[in-house]
Amino acid sequence: MCRAFDVQRRKYGLDQASADDMTSLTWRGELAPGLTRDSHGKLSIAGCDVIDLVATYATPLMVLDCDLLASRTATLRTAAQEHGVRVSYSAKALFTPALARFFDERGLGIDLSSLGELAVAQRAAVAPDHLTLHGSGKGTAEMAAAIDGRVGRIVVDDLLELAMLHELAMHANTRVEILVRCAIREPANTHSAIATSGEDTKFGIAACERALAWGLLRDSAFLHFAGIHAHAGSQIYAIATFENVIDTLLDLLEETAAFGLIAEHAIAGGGFGVRMHPITDEDSLDLVTTVTTLAERFQAGCRERGLVTPHLGIEPGRSLIADAGTTLYRVQAVKHQERHRFVIIDGGLSDNPRPALYDAYHHVVCASARHGEMLPAIVCGRSCENDEFARVDLPSDLLPGDILAVCTTGAYTYSMASNYNRFGRPAIIAIDAGQSRLITRRETVEDMLRLDC
Ligand code: LLP
Repeated sequence: MCRAFDVQRRKYGLDQASADDMTSLTWRGELAPGLTRDSHGKLSIAGCDVIDLVATYATPLMVLDCDLLASRTATLRTAAQEHGVRVSYSAKALFTPALARFFDERGLGIDLSSLGELAVAQRAAVAPDHLTLHGSGKGTAEMAAAIDGRVGRIVVDDLLELAMLHELAMHANTRVEILVRCAIREPANTHSAIATSGEDTKFGIAACERALAWGLLRDSAFLHFAGIHAHAGSQIYAIATFENVIDTLLDLLEETAAFGLIAEHAIAGGGFGVRMHPITDEDSLDLVTTVTTLAERFQAGCRERGLVTPHLGIEPGRSLIADAGTTLYRVQAVKHQERHRFVIIDGGLSDNPRPALYDAYHHVVCASARHGEMLPAIVCGRSCENDEFARVDLPSDLLPGDILAVCTTGAYTYSMASNYNRFGRPAIIAIDAGQSRLITRRETVEDMLRLDC
């Protein structure tokens, strides 16, 4: 094995990791789930040689390990089924027609937050009844999707939205399935930009307005109360936060029952944390333990409070797809400045704004055969600002043209990508049983002009 990778493996305690184990679902040393390195230092994703993938599809390239995704989805679904919990995939993490089909075929519902995501689900021919429309600040166009039956249900986020839906449904003489998102008082321990609970956030209907909402739902012949919804935030590692969400749902069930509203669904949102760093980060929440704990708490709570038990639902995004994604970049430049070595890659801020927005860490490993000592480097994107991506150890002999793999990029990287500096978005490929295929093509320079009149 070459020296650089040997040192790296020792640093991350990976001496005995098996390179043949292609289906690992956990981090092994420096390698995120799905990544393997053979004894010559060759890096593979889901069994496909990274250098071969780049030769075929170029960079930047998001690689989705569908075996890993299928395995995570099956594990969660089995545990959920065992406890009567319904699972919907939160499309905002990453969504393409191929992914819509993937989750639909596996019996998950799909949560949408825009008409764009609805269009993707429609292209994949997902039945409306499997779709739920979310969003704070919906307009009449979004509400029309529920009125016209293009989605099975709509999650109402504010009182006026509820009133408007009543009006629209009455004019259309139709009945709309309504879930009511309620504010959660207790804050979640996560980055403030992705916490959706705590005093005075914009999310959900607050306690002071809820009686009006329940009254409207009780009296409307056009709105069908399907249940309640609460979501604490994202990238949360403390199971106590989710237990608190369950307790909030139980309180809400008592509140609605007092208005004669019987919920069929109680949705606990998503937000289950995923490990990002080989050593220092918290571990991913175990999905089976989490579902079991929450379901048992919910069912016991309903029994104790004498409530009719609705279906408990969860809507994970990141915990299903984050570590099924790895993004491959080519090194464009290596610069030894006064104190630091800067490695500039052919992507960055425009296809993964998470480090800039949330100080998020994405681990970076070298995929090219380099033998130098592992030395600190600052990996940057090529935007016209200090778009520091990660501080990591990389081989001292790294050169332009080498390939870096950025880990755990399946969630909220491509889906949050922009055309800043008019860079195009990467291509996405899926690997299934060792076979790769393009699922989303790369944006070209011509695409950068397509919206201009
Ligand atoms: N349900 C609702 C109502 C949500 O708003 C979200 C995410 C989810 C479910 C799924 O959460 P997940 O299981 O993926 O954590 N861009 C940020 C994350 C924003 C999450 C927004 N809502 C990031 O890159 O960390």
